[in-house]
Amino acid sequence: MKEQRILITGACGQIGTELIPALRQRFGDDHVIATDIHVRPSGISNYIQLDVMQDEMLELVVKECGVTQIYHLAAMLSAKGEQNLDAAWSLNVHSLLSILKIAHEQGLEKVFWPSSIAVFGPNSPKYNCHQNARTEPTTVYGISKRAGEYWCNYYFDKFGVDVRSLRYPGLISAGASPGGGTTDYAVDIFHQALEKGNYTCYLEEDTCLPMMYMPDAIRATLELMEAPKEKISVRTSYNLAAMSFAPCDLAARIRKILPDFKIDYHPDFRQAIANSWPASIRDTEARRDWGWQPEFDLNRMTLDMLERLSVKKCLPLPEQEAETLTYPDFPMDNYVASNCRV
Ligand code: SER
Repeated sequence: MKEQRILITGACGQIGTELIPALRQRFGDDHVIATDIHVRPSGISNYIQLDVMQDEMLELVVKECGVTQIYHLAAMLSAKGEQNLDAAWSLNVHSLLSILKIAHEQGLEKVFWPSSIAVFGPNSPKYNCHQNARTEPTTVYGISKRAGEYWCNYYFDKFGVDVRSLRYPGLISAGASPGGGTTDYAVDIFHQALEKGNYTCYLEEDTCLPMMYMPDAIRATLELMEAPKEKISVRTSYNLAAMSFAPCDLAARIRKILPDFKIDYHPDFRQAIANSWPASIRDTEARRDWGWQPEFDLNRMTLDMLERLSVKKCLPLPEQEAETLTYPDFPMDNYVASNCRV
């Protein structure tokens, strides 16, 4: 195999923060170049401060560093995007176009680009929304992701660029702070639960959304990128699922570990965005083509998040009864039906 040099954009973001160590473990530190618009954060090596909107600079870096693969993660998420329409469109679409063009012209081996459940809209099926369901997104973020999916497909079809993509659900991670998404309550809630013992949620209690724990998302990304080319039948972006839950479901799980935790609800503009998205996703194609299988359900994720964050924040969890820590697993189909009270 040719020696790989992997460039990541948006390295300081939620996915980048956890994908970089995973890629470095596989390919070695020297082979993974982290880039972001921000000044180099302490503790990260092999880093270039780079604005992905500066096409010429981007092109130069790819050429000079002998890059063979790009993971293009820089993007503006749904809630922030609604407040910055032009900037969201430029960043999300124009930067992808530059990357695809560079990949084509410089003959890169592979490109990864994240799409999202936000490509779906109010006319999509609410439950078990399938790969080829009607999309019709109603946010600039969703429109930009859907347009990007078509661009990926176009570059594969016309020029043979091996670009691969996943429609991530809301991502939950102990490693990085979220930034501007509608699903981010499911990260903030853990921080507030540990620090203050209460949380005010900007979504209604029964707003069920598709979610995924970051270790699953990172593994899905690596598995997709390592799958043989002939197995990849979806060249727009793969539906990807792990769990679905509403804020009240998550609060109930947190309360099993932090019994005094309290939550109240003050929905804001993000409610309309959440309402436009499916409550659950069917990911048959990902399972069939490259064997996708999630490992974390709501129970395992909640426990792992609280354990990790409590260590990070030096806020020990109360003593647990042994059986409190071993929750039963819910099969996803039943799970949605029994917990989403929409
Ligand atoms: N997590 C994203 C958001 O909420 C959706 O992909 O914007």
